[in-house]
Amino acid sequence: MADLEEMLHERLAPAFAEVAGEAADPTIRRSQHTGFAGGDQRGDFQSDGALALASRLGRNPRDIATDVVDQATLDDLCATVEVSGPGFINLTIDDVVLTRLCTEIGRDERLGVAPADNPETVVVDYSAPNVAKEMHVGHLRSTVIGDAAVRLLEWLGHRVHRANHLGDWGTPFGMMIEHLLDVGETEAAYELSIGDLDAFYKAARAKFNGDDIFAERSRRRVVALQSGDESTRRLWRQLVDESEKYFMTVYDRLDVRLSDKDFVGESFYNDRLQPVVAELDRLGLLRDSEGAQCVFPDGFTHRDGEPMPIIVRKSDGGFGYSATDLAAIRHRTQELGATRLLYVVGTPQRQHLEMVFQAARQAGWLTPPARAEHIGFGSILGRDGKMLRSRAGVPVKLVDLLDEAVARAAAVVAEKNPELDETVRTRVAHAVGIGAVKYADLSTDRTRDYLLDYDRMLSFDGNTAPYLQYAHARICSIFRRAGVEPPRDVQTLTVTEPAERALALELLGFSGVVAEVARSLEFHRLATYLHGLASTFTTFYVRCPVLQAEVEVRRSRLVLCDLTARTLAIGLGLLGIQAPDQM
Ligand code: ARG
Repeated sequence: MADLEEMLHERLAPAFAEVAGEAADPTIRRSQHTGFAGGDQRGDFQSDGALALASRLGRNPRDIATDVVDQATLDDLCATVEVSGPGFINLTIDDVVLTRLCTEIGRDERLGVAPADNPETVVVDYSAPNVAKEMHVGHLRSTVIGDAAVRLLEWLGHRVHRANHLGDWGTPFGMMIEHLLDVGETEAAYELSIGDLDAFYKAARAKFNGDDIFAERSRRRVVALQSGDESTRRLWRQLVDESEKYFMTVYDRLDVRLSDKDFVGESFYNDRLQPVVAELDRLGLLRDSEGAQCVFPDGFTHRDGEPMPIIVRKSDGGFGYSATDLAAIRHRTQELGATRLLYVVGTPQRQHLEMVFQAARQAGWLTPPARAEHIGFGSILGRDGKMLRSRAGVPVKLVDLLDEAVARAAAVVAEKNPELDETVRTRVAHAVGIGAVKYADLSTDRTRDYLLDYDRMLSFDGNTAPYLQYAHARICSIFRRAGVEPPRDVQTLTVTEPAERALALELLGFSGVVAEVARSLEFHRLATYLHGLASTFTTFYVRCPVLQAEVEVRRSRLVLCDLTARTLAIGLGLLGIQAPDQM
């Protein structure tokens, strides 16, 4: 509603269409300013649409721009409209409009971000660790990105299913159950509850590889599990429960919205696998390949041109990972009625997912408006630029990484603000440490790898969580120092000074960024926006005295302070990051 870019688009698009004789994109963007030093004011926004049209219309772009400006109704929004350079249209928003729009978003708890017009049912498939296996940094990214997606889409009013596609099924459970019986249920429960998952798994694996009798027992156990043998089921459930309990402690520490009700593991789809295969068969999509039943989705071939299969049923009769994913799609679209399926899974699984999506489309389980998107992400690298490993060479445990971040944050916070009392400090250290880890993840283009660098992520300068959290806390302290409540009667606002205008324009950009990120789930765009906002605020605060200003101006500037703090808090909140009032 207050998105200026969109408002300008609505005004300019018809004018462009008129001049071009067909639809033409005005391509509007914020102008790049070199500063407020005055002189070369290039407007707040810029439309470059005339340049793209020039060759198509065989006309001088400046003339096109001039005609567009003549056609468009802009004087109720803009103070000045100028054609410049080769044919840019420079638009300067009227101060009165800036004031009015900021007043509007200030009155709104949602800061002008309207809920979605057409709420959808969305499934976010994320986190998805594996039972009796340690959750490692690979799962961290999925959990952090997935959590941000959930928060954003829920805030926009979508019905979101959080699907924690736990790896809780498959042949390894035979050996794990046998191992559980060997060590005794109590001891096993203990090992699993302290998060010693890998040790448990490795011990079982070692026996399986070295002991034929144990291996045979394990194989029989798998059959018993699959046929629903009651006591086997109970032991399996115990393994799953213990792991889930442990994963919940990690989620709590990480401050994500996943609850124990969100575990919808692979085992959930057991009863649905047979019908999926039967339906694929009926549709003529199933083909035998060396004894396995496969689907060959359109458009996927090996390098030699041979079609590539996904194995739905293995030659031994077992169902695999792909069968489960097909059943999950069918369940999500047909039973849950979801139209948007998001898979927050690392890029190495891209091909698997794309093939499954294509097979589901061919089977008619993923037809518009329903669609699936792979929200892929790269790896976390250590300082040496290689995959993150601990000293022992094994993947770093997620909890160790979080502990380290919080411990370092505590030291940084203690140094910054020694006066903070003990309990507040602990709370702030947690918010800063966890926030830093999440922000480091969410502020880089997720498809790329990034370097885990504690010093950088915990720095109070730069594009980091502590920088943004500190900017927020500092604004809160302005109010504390002045002994005033944030003014919610925003009637008092007037935007005139260049630094006030710059801040107002920045604040008004929030809804546009949110809308864009809801589409792309590229959270680094929100991070970049928040960082830009905090920097713009800093300039404003340097140039425009707030508490020392005379009463009217002071009240107006306090409104801008409050709006900035609220935007930072909501924006960070969408990323799953807390914004403490003091640091
Ligand atoms: N459990 C898997 C892993 O750890 C991730 C599952 C991703 N989700 C899915 N629907 N396949 O790699």
